[in-house]
Amino acid sequence: MVSLTVYDPATFAENHRSSFYGCSDMEMKDTLWWQRGIFYQVYPRSFQDSNRDGIGDLPGIIRRLPYLNSLGVDAVWLSPIFLSPMADFGYDISDYTAIDPLFGTMADFDALLAAVHANGLKLILDLVPNHTSDQHPWFVESRSSRNNPKRDWYLWRDGRPGGQPPNNWLSDFGGSAWQYDVATGQYYHHAFLAQQPDLNWRNPAVRKAIYDVMRFWLRKGVDGFRVDVIWHLIKDAEFRDNPPNANFREGQPPHQRFLPLFSTDRPEVHEVIAEMRRVTDEFDARVLIGEIYLPIERLVAYYGKDLLGAHLPFNFTLLSATWNARSIETLIAEYERALPVGAWPNWVLSNHDRPRVASRVGTDQARIAAMLLLTLRGTPTLYYGDEIGMHQVAIAPEQVRDPFEKNVPGLGVGRDGCRTPMQWEATTNAGFSTALPWLPLADDFIHENVANLDADPRSILSLYKALIRLRRERPPLVIGSYAPIAAHDDLLIYRRHREGASLTVVLNLGPDPVSLASDAIGLDGEILLSTFMDRTGERISGALDLRGNEGVITGASVLD
Ligand code: GLC
Repeated sequence: MVSLTVYDPATFAENHRSSFYGCSDMEMKDTLWWQRGIFYQVYPRSFQDSNRDGIGDLPGIIRRLPYLNSLGVDAVWLSPIFLSPMADFGYDISDYTAIDPLFGTMADFDALLAAVHANGLKLILDLVPNHTSDQHPWFVESRSSRNNPKRDWYLWRDGRPGGQPPNNWLSDFGGSAWQYDVATGQYYHHAFLAQQPDLNWRNPAVRKAIYDVMRFWLRKGVDGFRVDVIWHLIKDAEFRDNPPNANFREGQPPHQRFLPLFSTDRPEVHEVIAEMRRVTDEFDARVLIGEIYLPIERLVAYYGKDLLGAHLPFNFTLLSATWNARSIETLIAEYERALPVGAWPNWVLSNHDRPRVASRVGTDQARIAAMLLLTLRGTPTLYYGDEIGMHQVAIAPEQVRDPFEKNVPGLGVGRDGCRTPMQWEATTNAGFSTALPWLPLADDFIHENVANLDADPRSILSLYKALIRLRRERPPLVIGSYAPIAAHDDLLIYRRHREGASLTVVLNLGPDPVSLASDAIGLDGEILLSTFMDRTGERISGALDLRGNEGVITGASVLD
């Protein structure tokens, strides 16, 4: 027997909060494309192969642009496509202004950019300024002698007595963050792999070189950058030891033994980001996004003084959220409260570094997650494949490709499972490639694929499309204020309001049905969309009944 929780109007009325965030008199015409738009992350190796090598490429992405149009997203962010030995699958760059032959040629890139724009979309590239590949000519020069003019482009230090590295900093991918270089008898710093030496961002020549890289792509017409590990750029000038992490537990990745107090998030980083922003602003209507994993109060500092830092410091709070109504309600409120005046929010559900949302929250709740992402205040970023409910794919030990998993095995940190090929159709290799894909496909791709789900009006893909359409049609979902409505147990309720128009989002984060008194929380109008895709147009009167794992968006039927 299923239990039915009934919500009492009096309790609702009593708890109804009046706090709200954002303004309610904004106009769509006052927004910029990256504020009203929806971003879609493509991991190029895994989207579409066109030259039968089992690895996705730029012509493949061009072929799939009509799909992105039908989905309704506005901007495509590509993980790195530049020349690279691929030790970290492109996050180790050996030439910032060349396309890696695996992905195609510069002519392919130009064709992609033109096609993206012709389809009314924007293109965002990944900028990786914290480190290069050890094969980059800058590093090859830098390591060649202590007197080389590029020596100071990287972080070289003497070891401590007894053959110890310069300090206790650890690499995120395991082991010391210092690599001894026999030829010159010093250590260089690498926050990630030894094949990814960190640049010295205190050196003005390094800054200028990367700013010129930005200009190269901006001049070509790219619409902005997602800046890799932006909070890592500046390290402590004195290279002080990091303090131990009292909360460290065995089973966590080893670098978490210490708090990265002196190796990341240094105050001087904001001056660098302001410079990057000025470079971005030399061009019209471009966007600067920062990849930052920090607690909310530190994260929001990355909007910069007078909001002249990153336009959007990526908000990853949902990636590690405990999936229940109260903790999500709290994290939304904390984020909204912490935002500086005028700062534009954003939300991310998944990316190429974290387990897929459908595996984190389960298949049923993945629909709730979709409705949440696309109805919160701020720019949403979707990760390819989440719209078809792709799960984390199990990777056998011999199939592991991710250097993080190889260096730190057995802790579950591997990222291959969220980077598997896009599932397009029920043919060989899901239509991704005619060759053996570089990572295995999900077992269920015969059913869980774009072609199949597109034909099903109640599939998760159809839900994503409907949510995106609704967000486009209803200005409150983009520019309306956000007001939480107090609820209990598994219910998360909020209102998006704009002069004269409101929509209320009611999400059931649990498996049990719930009935709530609609008048107590001012629900009227009709159901505009249910996550089950079967209630549109249902009028609300008296009570609103939700099934387990159901979310609905309610509001007036007429368009405002
Ligand atoms: C970022 C990227 C990740 C990469 C790391 C080092 O966190 O998202 O994929 O491994 O930086 O560049």
